Amino acid sequence: MISNEQLRQLCIDIACEAGDFAHRSRLGLGPGARAAHDTKSSAVDPVTEFDRATEMLVFDRLRASRPDDSIVGEEGSNHRGSTDLTWHIDPIDGTVNFVYDLPLWSTSIGVLQHGEPIAGAIYVPVIGDMYSAASGVGAFVNGTPISASSATDTTTSLLATGFSYHIGDERQLQADRIARVLPAVRDIRRSGSAAVDLAAVAAGRVDAYFEPHINSWDIAAGVVLVREAGGVITAFDGSMLDVPAPKGVVAAGRGLHRTVVHLVGD
Ligand code: IPD
Ligand code: CA
Repeated sequence: MISNEQLRQLCIDIACEAGDFAHRSRLGLGPGARAAHDTKSSAVDPVTEFDRATEMLVFDRLRASRPDDSIVGEEGSNHRGSTDLTWHIDPIDGTVNFVYDLPLWSTSIGVLQHGEPIAGAIYVPVIGDMYSAASGVGAFVNGTPISASSATDTTTSLLATGFSYHIGDERQLQADRIARVLPAVRDIRRSGSAAVDLAAVAAGRVDAYFEPHINSWDIAAGVVLVREAGGVITAFDGSMLDVPAPKGVVAAGRGLHRTVVHLVGD
């Protein structure tokens, strides 16, 4: 049987190859040149040929090294295997940043056993940061152990968030929430990649992250990172997180999580 540590190494190897492939492709377009894209769930939700090609690369590598596992990918990859392991792939998390040539996008690969993430890697190629974790092994950036924030006071905390592509009423709700939360904290960051936000929570680079609508591939690797870094991650209302079918998340250091759930809740 493959160990959690071996799964972590596999996540790192494939995320590195895939992220570097996407990065080379982006460099080929030239600085600031918009990457051509189609749209997905709404007019503001882009997908490029590079999202699809990078997912294909990850899919092929996983099929070659773990032929009996299941796979779910953001761009539609689907394989139903026979083991209790399911891989959740986000080839380019932060596609809007990728399209505009902003640096914060990542390749995120997480593996779940019976619905719970046990290993994952989030690679930010432009910055060169490889975040990884496995249950019982720890959380790391570029091989160095990391831990979530020890902050307890929201008024001096830095919070990250994201805005889903549900346009219309949902955008107004997001704006209302920000108007309520911003005066109560140090500041808010919107990186453009949920996986980068979760990696930042794990590394203590932000104190907390919240987003009310999210998908399994955005968070599969980040969940194990946050937990192994000593942080807490739950559904948006503070209840137990269903990683394969999440309804939003709140992730934070242990001393802050409950307060953030109350602060951002409706
Ligand atoms: C999106 C990013 C963004 C988050 C959205 C996600 P994508 O993923 O993670 O930060 O706010 O909810 O859908 O489309 O760039 O892979
Ligand atoms: Ca994503």
